[in-house]
This record gives sequence, C-alpha cells and structure tokens, in this order.
Amino acid sequence: MKDKKVGIIGVGNVGSTIAYSLATKGICDYILLKDIRENFTKAIALDISQAASLVSSNTTVKAVEKDSEFKNCDIVVITAGVARKPGMSRDDLLYTNAKIMKSIIENVIEYNKNSIIIIVSNPLDAMVYTALKISNWARNKIIGMAGVLDSSRMTHFIKEKLGPRKIEAAVMGGHGDDMVPLIESSKVDGKFLSSLLSKDEIDDIIKKTKNGGLQIVKLLETGSAYYAPAFSTILMIEAILEDKKDVFPCAVRLDGEYGFSNVVTGVPIVLGKNGMEKIIEHKLSDNEKNQFSKSVNSVMSLIDKLDENTK
Ligand code: 2OP
Repeated sequence: MKDKKVGIIGVGNVGSTIAYSLATKGICDYILLKDIRENFTKAIALDISQAASLVSSNTTVKAVEKDSEFKNCDIVVITAGVARKPGMSRDDLLYTNAKIMKSIIENVIEYNKNSIIIIVSNPLDAMVYTALKISNWARNKIIGMAGVLDSSRMTHFIKEKLGPRKIEAAVMGGHGDDMVPLIESSKVDGKFLSSLLSKDEIDDIIKKTKNGGLQIVKLLETGSAYYAPAFSTILMIEAILEDKKDVFPCAVRLDGEYGFSNVVTGVPIVLGKNGMEKIIEHKLSDNEKNQFSKSVNSVMSLIDKLDENTK
C-alpha cells in the first residue's frame, strides 16, 4: 500500500499540535513540516519524532526547507499566517494572510498535484476562497477547518449547563462573528435542546459559542486557541486518509447549494479520500436561513474586499 504523507505549512501552536497528535497516533507514514523559521522547525520535527518513538509509532517527521522537497503529499494542511491579538477580529487579518496564502498556494500546487488541502488560517472562509481562486483547483480539493471547531465549542457550552450527556450540536456559516449555531436541530440524549433549557440559557450558549475563540485570545494574550483547532483538523485528516465518509461541517465553496454561489462558507459535507465528496443540504428553519444568509453575506463582503484589492 502507498505510504501516506501529510504536509503541514506553518508550525506554530496549531501546526505543531497537529503534527504531534498525528505522529503519536501513527496514522500516516510521513509528516513534512515547513515554516519560515527553519531551525525552529527542525527542533519541532526532532522533538515530535522522539515523542513518536515513545509510543512505537512508525511515522517519520521531517522539517523541509525547499519548496521542491515539500512534495507528493496526500494532504497539505496550511496554518500559516498571523494570529489575531486581543482587540482584533479574524477579519482584521484579511490582507496580510491573503498575501501569505497566495505565495504558499503557488508552491504547494506545483509539487502536490494530487493533494487535498485543508486550510486553517484566518479569516478562514476568505482564505479558502483565496486558495481556490489562485490554484483554480476543483472545490472538493480545498476545504477549510472551522465548523468542527465551532461545533465542539457549542457542545462544550451545552455540556457546561447539562453535564456530560450525548450531545448533537452543529454550527454552520462563516467562521466569524455571524456563525450560526443550529439550536433548533440540537439534541441532548435524543431530546431537543429547547425542551431542556430556557431561552436565556440557550441565548447564553449561542453567545459563548460565537465568542469561543475570542475568549481564549483574551485569556492567552499571546495568540489564539490551538488544542481544539488542531484536534478538529486531525478528525478531518483521518476522515480523508481513511476514506471514512464522515459528515462534518467544513468551509467549502457553494455552487448553488443553500441558494448561494461563488462564496465559501461552513456547511455539512461528506469527507473522504477525494476531500469534499458531497454537500449535505439540511432543511433550515426560516430563522436559521436568515442567520445563514447574514453570515454568508459577511463572508461575501470580505471576498469583495479581497477581489477589489487584487484587481
Ligand atoms: C479560533 O476560533 C483561531 O479561529 C480560531 O480559535
């Protein structure tokens, strides 16, 4: 069987945590790490390799300097870009990270023609759009990680109120202040959330979910969340490498689904060896539809700004 190779560009907190989890789980044969900080990346590769040998994982972790050596990956994860600081929204990173994304994508597509690309850099939806536009790749091959993370935050805040139960909760829309926690279809032990919590308690969960990233940015002071973003990415990597056909909310380009086109936003998709294999079109309530439109429109205005800027 063919060796499985995952490349990670950007070895900050998120990138290195993804590499560490992947290597110690041993679910791929090779991990390539690339970052502008070359010695730092070599150190991380050694440290993670040594952790992997403690659990007898056969994954080889390598720091790569030349673009031409970062090649033939099954999956490329891009986390590179600046992270927001307290007081900044994800959207404030738009132009800086779009420039970084452009230079990375040009190299990645040259040497990784058969790869699926997972984008983690913010503002997420606009970065996926940028990568698709520059590469001209099919939309199934470039996907953004955010819905899995936002849903994990929603689940966490429900669990805070109701204790550890079987929670089904999902978030759709852009990875920004207008994301859409799907309250009406959320269930706890098979019962609708609305039958278990008051409106005020539900509003609190919505607010906390939307602010989930910001809360961590404020507390950390020096960066943004990384354990949950990394683990969300790991779930997507596993689904693709093992062709699991898992359904996850991810950022993809809509071509008519949910009534929108030429915009990237978070929707439930089937993830397998071809990346995004299908978009699932849930029936949304009128209220959810309105919120989803608002969220998609926020992403559209970012995309317009980018298109204006690159004319
Ligand atoms: C978050 O929500 C960094 O966007 C990421 O934590």
